[in-house]
Amino acid sequence: MTSKISIYICMSLLIVAHTMMAQSREVFELTTWKFQKASQENGFEVNFDDSKWETVRVPHDWAIYGPFDKEIDKQIVAIVQNKEEIASEKTGRTGSLPHIGTAWYRNKFKLPKYEKGKKVILLFEGAMSEPEVFLNGEKVGEWAYGYSYFYFDITAFIAEGENTLAVKLTNKEFASRWYPGAGLYRKVRIIVKNEESIDQWGTFITTPFISESEAQVNIKTKVSGENLTLVTTVFDAAGKEVSSNKTQTIFGNEFEQNLKVNNPKLWSPETPYLYTAVTQLFVKNELKDSLSTRFGIREINYDAKTGFRLNGEITKFKGVCLHHDLGPIGTAVNKSALRRQLTILKDMGCNAIRSSHNMPSIEQLELCDEMGFMFLAESFDEWAVPKVENGYNRFFDEYAEKDVVNLVHATRNHPSIVMWSSGNEVPDQWGAAGVKRAKWLQDIFHREDPTRPVTVGMDQVQNTLESGFGALLDVPGLNYRLQLYEEAFEKFPQGFILGSETASTVSSRGIYKFPVEKASMKQYDDFQSSSYDLEYCSWSNVPDDDFVLQDDKPWVIGEFVWTGFDYLGEPTPYDEMWPSRSSYFGINDLAGLPKDRFYLYRSRWNTKDETLHILPHWNWGGREGEVTPVFVYTNYDSAELFVNGKSMGIQTKNNETPQNRYRLMWMDVKYEPGTLKVVAFDKQGDKAAEKEIHTAGEPYQIILQPEVSVIKANGEDLAYVTVSVVDKNGNPCPTATNQLKFSVKGKGTYRAACNGDATSLEMFHLPTMKLFSGKLVVLVQSTNETGEITLMVTGKGLKKGKIILNSSN
Ligand code: GAL
Repeated sequence: MTSKISIYICMSLLIVAHTMMAQSREVFELTTWKFQKASQENGFEVNFDDSKWETVRVPHDWAIYGPFDKEIDKQIVAIVQNKEEIASEKTGRTGSLPHIGTAWYRNKFKLPKYEKGKKVILLFEGAMSEPEVFLNGEKVGEWAYGYSYFYFDITAFIAEGENTLAVKLTNKEFASRWYPGAGLYRKVRIIVKNEESIDQWGTFITTPFISESEAQVNIKTKVSGENLTLVTTVFDAAGKEVSSNKTQTIFGNEFEQNLKVNNPKLWSPETPYLYTAVTQLFVKNELKDSLSTRFGIREINYDAKTGFRLNGEITKFKGVCLHHDLGPIGTAVNKSALRRQLTILKDMGCNAIRSSHNMPSIEQLELCDEMGFMFLAESFDEWAVPKVENGYNRFFDEYAEKDVVNLVHATRNHPSIVMWSSGNEVPDQWGAAGVKRAKWLQDIFHREDPTRPVTVGMDQVQNTLESGFGALLDVPGLNYRLQLYEEAFEKFPQGFILGSETASTVSSRGIYKFPVEKASMKQYDDFQSSSYDLEYCSWSNVPDDDFVLQDDKPWVIGEFVWTGFDYLGEPTPYDEMWPSRSSYFGINDLAGLPKDRFYLYRSRWNTKDETLHILPHWNWGGREGEVTPVFVYTNYDSAELFVNGKSMGIQTKNNETPQNRYRLMWMDVKYEPGTLKVVAFDKQGDKAAEKEIHTAGEPYQIILQPEVSVIKANGEDLAYVTVSVVDKNGNPCPTATNQLKFSVKGKGTYRAACNGDATSLEMFHLPTMKLFSGKLVVLVQSTNETGEITLMVTGKGLKKGKIILNSSN
């Protein structure tokens, strides 16, 4: 019964994308699958009668439903790159979620209108990991790296009636340094096309010449077939035709066309303008294939004189590193979750993303193209020398070239990508073999894409200065190592330095520790880190130290902060402390709620909007009379602080220390309950803005704040609702930890909740969770029906919260 339903849903929902000429190719997305994991309950055996298998929707992450377990992928290791010499037990390193093991996915499908002579491609945008793919009982292929895009030509395996596709995935232990997720976590598609057709990822669009009046759009198209004619038409963002070209001149299997676009609108983070090229392939007058490709017209330059220029203008990377998990929904790719992350980062003034340390999702690139983010697309965290026993080192020799080729081919038309990275802190930085590998990989990138430079995030800077490793890279990327920036700039030939990974400051949202002081690898009994933003790791630093270099050294072309959002796994500085199971590095927490640091970056990166943020919160019952420093993160240079109307003096940014330069700090304030008020002054010394926070009383009422009130009725869209509690007077209660319950009714479902507490073992998908520092986020998902969705949140002794959202087409 269930399998029939699954087939029915597959067939009714599959068709996702037709090109303008529907008859030329059809694209089906395989969304409804049967799933079974080999687990202890079934004796680690899979019963191949799939009638009892679970029905799941792909993209799917089988491990995110937990439970968290200390023993999962427990690694007894010395993390060498963290300068550890003695092995110790690392419990939460990969998130403590059950991602290890083998699982099978099955999908039964029929191809409508399938005829012999058609070509059928099976495309995976990532499968975690070591996928083995079978069609109708025969093996069609396999891959290794869980982050790679790959495809197989399955024409020879296709049956005319029903087909059964099976995918086996295996995740070994000791294979990752963070939560990798598990399963078919990115899209799976079938493309049915004619024998005469455009090859998979066969289009390569570049814009080699750009002036104010015209741009040259160079389009290379790889095809299969004989006696072909190619017509390419470029449309502007409004859908108006702006250029067209027809050709029969082919070299080997590749057409090359040059189209002129008059008065081009250039792509940039501020103006993310996109064009579309529609390519049609004909044999005589018969249309055989057609394909739409979005692209941007933009120019990138990296040189010793000016550093990085975008469209001729010196541009600094105000970037963040992101791992691929989406917090409470795990690694299953979801466009609305990605859009929300980028919306938060845009408000912070961020203009660039680094997909650390692997291939990004296609969805993320599409959004960066549309929303205006530059992209550093990374490939590997390991080459041939291991960081973890079962990491990519097992596959490097056989797969590295194939993985790089697929990365470039699948993503090269995204204008957002302005740089490739062939690796992150690879231990191959040591020794001559590593220098050769660096060159070999960079040459592959250059061969496949001569338009973009390649970097490596280097942590062994001293060594790469001597070995030639750093000198050969297009872009020398330094991870941390601020003390070596000057020397690297002098000795490396490129003439500029990128902060490929910076800061690694640690903090927990809404948690403040006393006394307030700078500290490395600081630990507390509650396994939290202080949100005064002064705590970092033995290899890293606080944000202000990066700001100094970014501001004072014109040859530093920007930075990518570790990280934009907290992620599952790597709970430094509590790698050995259970139950810490997710990171403390994020500028935003795992729920996507801003930590104080968000406002520090915003005050500097967002040059359009005002930032005026006070920390800590002002609920310190028991600390009356004790020194409780107050920091203000603001784009204004000076401000006056008042405690219950009494002035604590004016602070002005100055050059005494990096902190004094970027933060306003009142170090001697003594706590008394009441009102903390800050008044900021503009350059003329006039009052420009003010802000107050208040000591709150007991939690009284639940407040729900949706980020959007209308979502799409597509079964995937998410509404993020921030849940908090206020006292009788409406003051937010910043220390509340109430246990809340969620219920969703109408045309939506409860998807998950997250409170950002890195030590919480509550499962995200269960409809109850404790507040952490007074807040959490609930995710409501649409169904395929339009209409009202009601979210209700209750908690013992609290006035309930209720909101109505809408889902529409
Ligand atoms: C870097 C590494 C990242 C992360 C970070 C934590 O060295 O590239 O993946 O581990 O340290 O500070």
